[in-house]
Amino acid sequence: MKVDGKMMRTIWPAGHGAVAIIDQTRLPHELETIKLHTLEDAVVAISSMQVRGAPLIGATAAYGVALAMERDASDSSLNTALRLLGQTRPTAVNLRWALEQMRSALVNYPADDRVPLAWRMANEIAEEDVGLNMAMGRHGLDLIKARRHADGKPVQILTHCNAGWLATVDAGTATAPIYAAHDAGIPVHVWVDETRPRNQGASLTAWELGKHGVPHTVIVDNCGGHLMQHGMVDLVIVGTDRTTATGDVANKIGTYLKALAARDNDVPFYVALPSPTIDWNIADGVRQIPIEQRHASEVTHVQGRSRSGEIVSVQVTPDGSGVANYGFDVTPARLITGLITERGVCPASREGLLSLFPEKRGVAAGS
Ligand code: MRU
Repeated sequence: MKVDGKMMRTIWPAGHGAVAIIDQTRLPHELETIKLHTLEDAVVAISSMQVRGAPLIGATAAYGVALAMERDASDSSLNTALRLLGQTRPTAVNLRWALEQMRSALVNYPADDRVPLAWRMANEIAEEDVGLNMAMGRHGLDLIKARRHADGKPVQILTHCNAGWLATVDAGTATAPIYAAHDAGIPVHVWVDETRPRNQGASLTAWELGKHGVPHTVIVDNCGGHLMQHGMVDLVIVGTDRTTATGDVANKIGTYLKALAARDNDVPFYVALPSPTIDWNIADGVRQIPIEQRHASEVTHVQGRSRSGEIVSVQVTPDGSGVANYGFDVTPARLITGLITERGVCPASREGLLSLFPEKRGVAAGS
């Protein structure tokens, strides 16, 4: 997407066996790009959330394998890379998917020829992500068009966390239909949940929407229900880190509460997901999706820019209070109006998903 008139992606090969990323821990205050040179750099980038968002985690992991192969293309180096990258973040299944793509491509290939293949595969995974997101944008656009107001007032869309281009290689998942609508001249306005504890909505979604010129308003996490009660939200679109074969959806903590509020107020609740986010092996999201628990400091402290322009972290809790930091929650399929995929929009159910991905019949968990 465009940043100050210049096209950018979140990750790209930077030559000389390196990969460049936008360091998302500095946004929205500083747009800094950094280079990853080693497997360890890639592991740190994912676990410290310099890169984050399910599809981007997957793409970074694929490049991490390529970086590992640059240094040592042996079987043991490949296995180490797969293991270390696989342990970085537990909830987003795109990580496992991308590593499996890399493993199956490289494992039977002679070590001497692995380096160019690893780069080619990682580039393909990154390119594929962009294509999937653009396709979701086209399908989701119809849903936004259907909610247009006769008086030309903007379609009011609420989103949670950052499922924008910063969470992917480009275009985003939940935001792809929003950008498509905006670019097509359909007036849209986005309610952006701040998304504590790391504030991906306030910091990242607001930044990227602003850079693209999409009207938006940042709200505190608990505001959405009130807006829905007052007819101020036409539809909700969120992303997901893992969707079960039956259509249960894990996404950033707080998504479930938005789905409950949406159901209570008859507001359509859509989830946008590329197929690598579907975990066909599981049927019960609440019981089977591993929920990441992150460091307490993300709850006790908030990062922001001080009046003097420095990026600082300040404590918001009393010393000694206990803290829990669950990163994700699961929204059951019954609360979801539809899943927006690269192949179209379907009901959040096993049959719905299989109607778009019939080749998974026989593989998909559930009955
Ligand atoms: O912890 P994060 O920032 O990686 O969480 C990101 C999300 O929850 C996104 O909504 C999800 O990955 C979908 S991304 C297109």
